This record gives sequence, C-alpha cells and structure tokens, in this order.
Amino acid sequence: MKQFLELISEEMSSAFEAAGYDGALGRVTVSNRPDLCEYQCNGAMAGAKRFRKAPFMIAEDVVKALSAKNDGTGSAVFAKAEVVKPGFLNLDVKESFLQTYLREMADDERLGMPLPEKPERIILDYGGPNVAKPLHVGHLRSAVIGESLKRILRFHGDEVIGDIHLGDWGLQMGLVITELKKRMPHLPYFDPSYTGAYPEEAPFTVSELEEIYPYASAKSKKDSGYYAEAMDYTRRLQEGERGLYALWEKIVAVSVADMKHNYENLDVTFDLWNGEASVHPVIPGMVREMKEGGYAHESKGALVVDVSEETDTKEIPPCIVLKSDGASLYTTTDLATIKERVEKYHPDRMIYITDKRQELHFRQVFRAAKKCGLADDSTELVHIGFGTMNGKDGKPFKTREGGVMRLESLIADIDAEMLSKISTNPEIPAQEAEQTSRQVALAALKYGDLSNQASKDYVFDIEKFTSFEGDTGPYILYTIVRMRSILSRYAAEQGAADPAALRPGEPGSAIEKKLMMDLAGFNAMMEGASRDLAPHRVCAYIYQLSNDFNTFYHATRILTEPDRGKKEGWIALLHLTERVLSRCIDVLGFDAPKRM
Ligand code: ARG
Repeated sequence: MKQFLELISEEMSSAFEAAGYDGALGRVTVSNRPDLCEYQCNGAMAGAKRFRKAPFMIAEDVVKALSAKNDGTGSAVFAKAEVVKPGFLNLDVKESFLQTYLREMADDERLGMPLPEKPERIILDYGGPNVAKPLHVGHLRSAVIGESLKRILRFHGDEVIGDIHLGDWGLQMGLVITELKKRMPHLPYFDPSYTGAYPEEAPFTVSELEEIYPYASAKSKKDSGYYAEAMDYTRRLQEGERGLYALWEKIVAVSVADMKHNYENLDVTFDLWNGEASVHPVIPGMVREMKEGGYAHESKGALVVDVSEETDTKEIPPCIVLKSDGASLYTTTDLATIKERVEKYHPDRMIYITDKRQELHFRQVFRAAKKCGLADDSTELVHIGFGTMNGKDGKPFKTREGGVMRLESLIADIDAEMLSKISTNPEIPAQEAEQTSRQVALAALKYGDLSNQASKDYVFDIEKFTSFEGDTGPYILYTIVRMRSILSRYAAEQGAADPAALRPGEPGSAIEKKLMMDLAGFNAMMEGASRDLAPHRVCAYIYQLSNDFNTFYHATRILTEPDRGKKEGWIALLHLTERVLSRCIDVLGFDAPKRM
C-alpha cells in the first residue's frame, strides 16, 4: 500500500497542476500546529518566486482547483483546505477517506507495509560476547538493539543473517590457559609431546571459568612474567598447537552453552555462531594478497595498511594487520571476517552493533577492507555505535559493590521488581505471575533501552522502566492486554464472533480520528525505522498510539454501545490497533502476556 501522506500529497499535487503550477509543490506533511489542522502544505510559499505570484494567491488557486474536482463536488481526500496568511494551506482529511485507508490496511496481512522491490541481503553482527568472560551489561545493548534491527529489517522484507561474532581468539584465551596450567599442571593439554586422545569432559565448569578470567587478567597486569606466558600461549594457540587447541575447544564449548542459555532468556537468537577463530584459516591468504597488492607495508615490525584520507579532520592511524610477532589482533580477524562474508554470502550490507567507543576501530577496518578490495563498492559497511548504559549517578552501570554488573544479575533484579508488582494482582496465580513478570520485565528492559536513540547514553532506572505508566514497556503491554481483553469479551458476548471479520467505520469524534490517523502512519513509520536503523522510532510510535487508544477507550463505552454498526466499527478499530501494536512489539523483540 502507498503511504497515507503519499496519497494525500498526490491529491494536492494534482490540484497544483490543475491550477497551472508545478505538481512537486504539492507535498503534504503532518501539521506542526495540530490545534489548527491535521496536515499542511507549504508549496505555495515555495513556488512564489518561481511563479512570480503572491503565495496567498497561489494557495487560493489550488483550493479552487480542489473544489472543482469530481465534477465540482470537491476533493475526495480533504474535508478542509484553508488558506492562511501568508500562503500556507491548512488541511483536514475526510473521514471517509481515512476509513477507506484503514479498511485496506486491515485487509492486508502486512498492515499496508509494501515489500521492497529489491530486497537486500544483510549480515548483522551483534551480541559479540567474549568466550570465558561473563556476559555483562555492555553486551546487553548490542544484543537488544541487534535483535530488534534484525526483526525490523526482516519485516521490511530484507534477508538478514545474524552473526554473533564471538570474541574467542584473543589474549583472554591465553590468560585462561595460563591460569589453568597453574592450577592443573598435570592435564595432558599442556604437554606438547602428548599424542593420545584428550578427555571428553571439560576440566572446569562455567563458574570456574568465569572466576579464572578476571583473576588471570588482574594478575597479568601486575606480573610481567605471567603476562608474557599468556602472550606466548595465545601465539601458540593461534599457531594451532594440538593440546592448546583441544583445551580451547573445551573453553569455547562450556562458555557457549552458558551464553545460549543467557541469550535465550533475552529472546535473542543468531543464525551464525561464528567467531574470531572461525576465520583464522583465512588470514594467511588475506595477508599475502595485501602484501602482493602493495596495500600493506611494514612499519616498526608490524604489518599495516594506511587508511588516512586527505579530507580527514582528525588523524586516522594506520590499520595494523599483524603485530610484530606475527600474531593477529582484533582488526585482523575483523578484516578476515569481511573477506569471508563477502565470498560466502555476497551481502549488500554488513551492519555492526557495538559500543561507540569502537568507532575508530571500525573506521580503520572498513577503510582497509575497501582499499584492499576485500569488499567492493557494492557492499556497504555500517557501524552503529551505541552509548553507555549508566546508573542513576550518571556513571557506567555498576553493582552496588562497584564491580561490573553481570547480565544475569541485572535480569534477576528487574524480574524480581516486576514480580513484586504483578503479585499484587490477586487474580493471577503464583506460577502465572512468575512467568508473566519475566515477560513484562523483558519488555521493561528492552523498551527502556530501545526507546533511546542508540548513540545516546541512557540511565538504567529500574523503577521508571518497570512502571505501568508513562513511556515504558509495561505501559505498552498493559494497553495491549486491555485491548485483547475487550476483544475476547466481545467475542464471548457475541458467541464466538470474529472481530477480524469487522471493518472500521468513519471516525465519529476527534479522538477517534486521531487514533485512526496515527494508525494510518504505520507503514511510513516502519519504512523510516528500517531505513534509518532506528528502533526508537517504533517505540515513539507505539507510545503515541497507546496514548491515542487509551484516550479513546476512556471516552468511549465500547461494549455497552447499543448501536450495532458503531460498536462493530469500534471493535474493528480496536482489533487493528491491537494488530499494529503486536507487530511493533514483535519487531522490538518482546511480546505481551495474557493478563497482568
Ligand atoms: N567481542 C567484541 C567486544 O566485546 C565485540 C565484537 C563485535 N563485532 C565485531 N565484528 N568486531 O567488544
């Protein structure tokens, strides 16, 4: 379906043309003075110079052309087209026109959202947890934003491949191995001359692993011998030493099993569980090509690619491809990953979602990838850098003791807060309350994050996020639950009547019309959210829509309405609103409980 604004702009354009002006002037926008009109067109102002005429006169000509339409019965689109000085056109749409649009939308499975002419293939790189390190709140944003973008783009009609891109090949692996060696020196993994089979079972649990990494990391900062050992293990691992590789596989397996469980709780899924290590075999060939092509050169022992450009206002340092000891780094695996993804999937776009402090890294990597021909012009490389999640003190979110907050603890806190609220409803049995509170808590967490523009920092405020009022996830869910309850009461009362079979009527009040106009904006909003990779647009939209609906609900006695036609129109409107809201929360990555 065409967008609502597009249709009314077409009507306006045809009037400009009929009056002898340029149709392009007929662009209509939502009014910025809703107290005066619903929509507006400023084309007469824009055309004044070109047509050497006062804007007021142009606008009057256009209004005359509008009323001459349809054999003089006037525009089928506008109920009001008013000229105000110095030449604005203030517009209201016709009730019947709005109704027709919503009926068409209700008939469409995709709620009026067209499919793209040419769907893109997109690789979305998000999550990015590090093996052997506990998931912490910093990984939350990448997972939440990434999951939402995946769903938004899929709904838009693109083919999206989500890749978790595990951090599984760096120094943290060497650190963990060093510490394991200290604690369990007898294990066969550390003996380079061992040729037998390795034990099936991992010699550690995930909790042990998570204790080991921070310990080893802290120790390496104080003890240079320890650090050197970790570096050495990292290099030997990367060179493929059999025992270290076998141990590494155990570390990855234990860690990944735990991650899967964590991401499941967040309702976040990935198509690919690749990591830095997956592309290790790609590196030697890539390095050779970079050298042979003359793109990479040696600098202080390291292999680098110059990526600065003349137009840079800030110096962009060269991109290091290999360290002086030949070890690979974060940039190396990212470059190799681009090469592999291009060869394997031919994506139109790769989108990376990380903390915005990695901006320079991605700028260097993207430039190096283009320069060395790992990706050509047909592959767009995009980095979305998000801001920090802060505590109420405005500093990065920490535990009460001041440590890094584990994702699990954060989720447990918000679950508990939600449970204490939901348990106050005596109608909900304990078991359901627990499940519901988890569902609502997830919405609170995700909405709290996604309703902010990704690049901005935000404050994690548990009371605010879990509130049933205001711009929150629970408020949206509460509104949906209310709608579903009315719909099921209606169905029960009518003896299994199907609300989906009904169609909205003409709006009978300004309140109802406002709800209908905002519903009509759904496809434009979605188009914008996917174009700008902006889940916060979806949040802003559903907050407005929920407010519209609740205002309508409080002003209307739907179920007791004696006029059957009216009542059926309202039920249809409610049903459509429910479908739109459900579609929106689905792309945000959460869903609504039966009751709350
Ligand atoms: N593991 C990285 C981190 O914790 C994030 C990985 C993001 N993706 C990428 N292709 N670099 O910061």
